[in-house]
Amino acid sequence: MHRILSGIRPTGDIHLGNYLGAVRNWVEMQHLSQQNLFCIVDLHALTTLQDTDNLADHTRTVAAAYIASGIDPNKSAIFAQSHVPYHAELGWILGCFAPLGWLNRMTQFKEKAGKHKELACLGLYAYPVLMAADILLYKASHVPVGEDQKQHLELARDLAGAFNHRFNSDLFPVPEPIIQGPATRVMSLRDGTSKMSKSDISEYSRINLMDTPDMIVQKIRKAKTDMEPLPETVEGLENRPEAQNLVNIFAAISGISAADICARFAGSNFAPFKQELADHLIEKIAPVGTQMRHLLKETSELDKVLAAGADVANKLAATHMVEIRSVIGLLQER
Ligand code: TYM
Repeated sequence: MHRILSGIRPTGDIHLGNYLGAVRNWVEMQHLSQQNLFCIVDLHALTTLQDTDNLADHTRTVAAAYIASGIDPNKSAIFAQSHVPYHAELGWILGCFAPLGWLNRMTQFKEKAGKHKELACLGLYAYPVLMAADILLYKASHVPVGEDQKQHLELARDLAGAFNHRFNSDLFPVPEPIIQGPATRVMSLRDGTSKMSKSDISEYSRINLMDTPDMIVQKIRKAKTDMEPLPETVEGLENRPEAQNLVNIFAAISGISAADICARFAGSNFAPFKQELADHLIEKIAPVGTQMRHLLKETSELDKVLAAGADVANKLAATHMVEIRSVIGLLQER
């Protein structure tokens, strides 16, 4: 069975990296697969949020972003992770089979915990195990994500294999990561060596899906570049991280190849290139933002979509949990 699952943390605005690296690919894939589950992983958001005041709003915002980007609720289940309690149950179970040695290798924990590892919470450390549970709970076969999730996906695959081996079963299919397209790692507009991220303090580091056309123009105009003109070929972008990132974004959003973009702007300064890049972004992103604002005015409609999605997810998860508990040998409820 071809079943897709993926998710986004509702920790703030959805940005261009989330869109190009993840959601846009989901939109294309949803028609090719038998079942799609797109989760808003609010329990994951708890690992880094300072306060939870806006968590419910953020969850709706991500749901609106999914729909406005083209995820069809009739074709795909859109739901909040916390509306399906089995995620937490399977997270615990898998945690009992996850060697600390595997978790200690996770680079995202090291980055997020920073220098104050002792103060980091258990949830942040166990995060990849809950993520594995999100995937294995539905026996997802394919998981489309950006490149930064590669290591977490490897852990999910290892955990599926370890569980199957331990119980001599083939209960969990080993999930295939799908990391594809020209923008699997979109970089910050202020620093071409760090990833575009919701947690960057500079608003100018990212384009958000709800940015107005004016904001998009401003952010692209201010995007960091270097002093050299644009090169004739893609090879000329090497060691020029900011230029390379902008060309990659241009290619991903316009569908024009990076080679053709370089050939077109060869020898020119960045001004005309940036103008055209902003035009492409406004054409593709601004309508998504407009539709999101429209959807967010009708929260009752959004909540209905989330309830319908949770219903599909809960039914599937409940069936799988019965199998999982039985394979482990837990006493079944009568
Ligand atoms: P999150 O919320 O950080 O990001 C959501 C998705 O967007 C991708 N992404 C990017 N792609 C390209 N360039 C970027 N700068 C960029 N920033 C983010 C991410 O790779 C991801 O696909 N752990 C996950 C959420 C999660 C999940 C799951 C995903 C929880 N459970 C199960 C798949 C399956 C995360 O923090 O994503």
